[in-house]
Amino acid sequence: MPSINRREFLSGTVAVLGAAGLRYPIWGLANPNRDPSPSSLLLGVDYYPDQTPEALWDEDARMMAEFGFTNVRIAEFAWALMEPVEGKFDFAWLRRAVQTLHKYNIAVILGTPSAAPPPWLTAKYPEIVEVNAQGAALHPGGRRFTCPTNKTYRRLSLAIASEMAGTFADTPGVIGWQIDNELTLGSSPRCYCNHCQAGFQEWLRSKYGSLDILNRTWGTVFWSQTYTDFSQVPVPLPSGADPNPGLALDYNRYQSYTNTSFLEEQLAALRKTCPRHFVTTNNVGVPLDLIDLRSLYEKLDFVAFDNYPGFFEMLLHEQKSAAVSWDYIYAATALGHDFARSLHGKPFMIMEEQSGKAGQRTFSPQPNKGQLRLWTYQAVAHGAKGVNYFRWDTATFGAEEYWHGILNHDRSKSPGYDEIKQTVKELKQLGPELLNSSYPAETALVFDYDCDWALQIQPGHSGLSYVAQITSWYGSIASNRSGIDVIAPGADLSSYKIVFAPVVYVLSEAQAARVKTFVQNGGVFVSNFRLGAKNESSQMARTPLPGLLRDVMGVTVEDYVPIYSAKQGVKFSSTLAGADGECGIWADILKPDTAEVLGTYTSGAHAGRAAITMNSFAKGKAVYIGADLDPASLTRLLRSFSASAGVKQVLDVPSGVEVTVRRSDRKQWIFLLNHTDTAQTVNIPGPYTDLLTGESRTGSVGLGAYGVRVLQAS
Ligand code: GAL
Repeated sequence: MPSINRREFLSGTVAVLGAAGLRYPIWGLANPNRDPSPSSLLLGVDYYPDQTPEALWDEDARMMAEFGFTNVRIAEFAWALMEPVEGKFDFAWLRRAVQTLHKYNIAVILGTPSAAPPPWLTAKYPEIVEVNAQGAALHPGGRRFTCPTNKTYRRLSLAIASEMAGTFADTPGVIGWQIDNELTLGSSPRCYCNHCQAGFQEWLRSKYGSLDILNRTWGTVFWSQTYTDFSQVPVPLPSGADPNPGLALDYNRYQSYTNTSFLEEQLAALRKTCPRHFVTTNNVGVPLDLIDLRSLYEKLDFVAFDNYPGFFEMLLHEQKSAAVSWDYIYAATALGHDFARSLHGKPFMIMEEQSGKAGQRTFSPQPNKGQLRLWTYQAVAHGAKGVNYFRWDTATFGAEEYWHGILNHDRSKSPGYDEIKQTVKELKQLGPELLNSSYPAETALVFDYDCDWALQIQPGHSGLSYVAQITSWYGSIASNRSGIDVIAPGADLSSYKIVFAPVVYVLSEAQAARVKTFVQNGGVFVSNFRLGAKNESSQMARTPLPGLLRDVMGVTVEDYVPIYSAKQGVKFSSTLAGADGECGIWADILKPDTAEVLGTYTSGAHAGRAAITMNSFAKGKAVYIGADLDPASLTRLLRSFSASAGVKQVLDVPSGVEVTVRRSDRKQWIFLLNHTDTAQTVNIPGPYTDLLTGESRTGSVGLGAYGVRVLQAS
């Protein structure tokens, strides 16, 4: 058997399936000239042989192969079957399942099962359960009810992962691993138990070194919270009043750290025993995840996340009890893809892609005809190199009976069956050069976990959410139809023309220095209210706002005003002149120092005062948007700043049509994605070849409802 390791897998010059004993290569990621594979995407499905009578496995594998799938992910919740009694492992059934799949050339990603410990374990070690934010211990019986710090849970999780690794390291067909499953997605995402408290204290000891520094950093003199021993430091459980914000922010960081270190224990075992396999984990995407995904994926081979646009729509609908605009959903989905692609520049795949009606107690709507295909193309358009659909068959028992797969409960074809099959077939024609092409981005959007967490602790206004702000800024910027990277506050900014950074509530000196250099060198930096309000220790800035960036922004925030009364008006001037806008929940009252005023408040106590400014600073510009603008005005403004920064709009398309561009050394492709339920026409400079139909196109192309086109410049 040829030798293969996971790095070769990622460099794509080796036939991965061949090395795993399978007949043809999948996922050739790199040099297209040396990778003649017509099928470079991982295109698979999440499968549950543990929940399926063995008599059906062969038929399932055969049907999957006919369907065109290259791989499955299995076993991530099968702990009870793999270790029925502590220390007694039974992988015989799993080996048979892998063999059956392998017979039909279906490769296997194995999941380690730590998200769902079995009853024998929780009966014997009840202390492994998570304690929620109210101080109540969770109960076994669901999943993800465990404490990430608990040593017993870690020991037992590591033991089964190590046993699996040893058993399947050389098993033909096995190509990689998913550790655990959605690490923080549960009814309560963080644990507050005694084990976490002790872990937190240790983590603080190594972070601060001395209690003096800790006390000063958090300002524990407030409310007589001065600690004289690390063992006195509490976790932020209910305590008569809100916790110290510095402590609470550090606790978020600790929970992120402890989950990552939990994962890394299993990772070390898999690396040691299975050097030829790739290792990843699946996360729930930007809006929901409470782990710093940049740290989580640092040592993993690629990023994987779970994508359920329709379920997301249903959740938002439940929260708002009103229809949710598809513009918002598709922007949020695109944001998730861009975030995944931008993490460490590693490849990403969708480990679970919605394949039908979704839900636990209630069903999400049935995706409309064309949407399943559209969502898959959206992922690939943003750079995904693999898509696994969730799930093959629909469970007839258990908490997810309502979560529809590709087969219905009676094993008939689901409404999405033919559409997904067609999509898989089409995607195989795209070829490695396109799939491995780059995603050019002149625009960056900063996503900072510190800002997210600090604003969750003290939103400042009940309506202010970091993720909602990021999503609406992303949607506004994306309407400019150009590539966006979603970057960390510490990222190198030099390759971007414009950097958008909404609600930078926490600003470090290092980040401020990077922004300053970026603007000095000619970049455009756009931020808004709360910029620089806190430092990394969660203390308020002691200088007038916007604190460390006051000189760059050329403006002083004279007052900041959370708004609970009627919305206020904003009048735009100068280059932004246009219809008046509305200011929603927040108004910073600005005094321009060196900046030009681009917008003023027209109503309320601050009528006539500056709301939006732009400063020329060395070779660049810095824009401060003090008002929480309505979406239409925000979109108009952000688009205008992009244009003035020289960001090129790829195509002018109707609202609801998404455009992404991919580029190789020699070629350029345009993905057109119609997220609306009506047909659209897009003018194209042409000539282009439509890769899905083979036709030459020039002048304009039509897109049916939820239609997709992949155009290659010719
Ligand atoms: C994901 C999870 C899967 C399954 C799916 C449908 O979040 O990883 O295990 O639960 O949702 O609910």
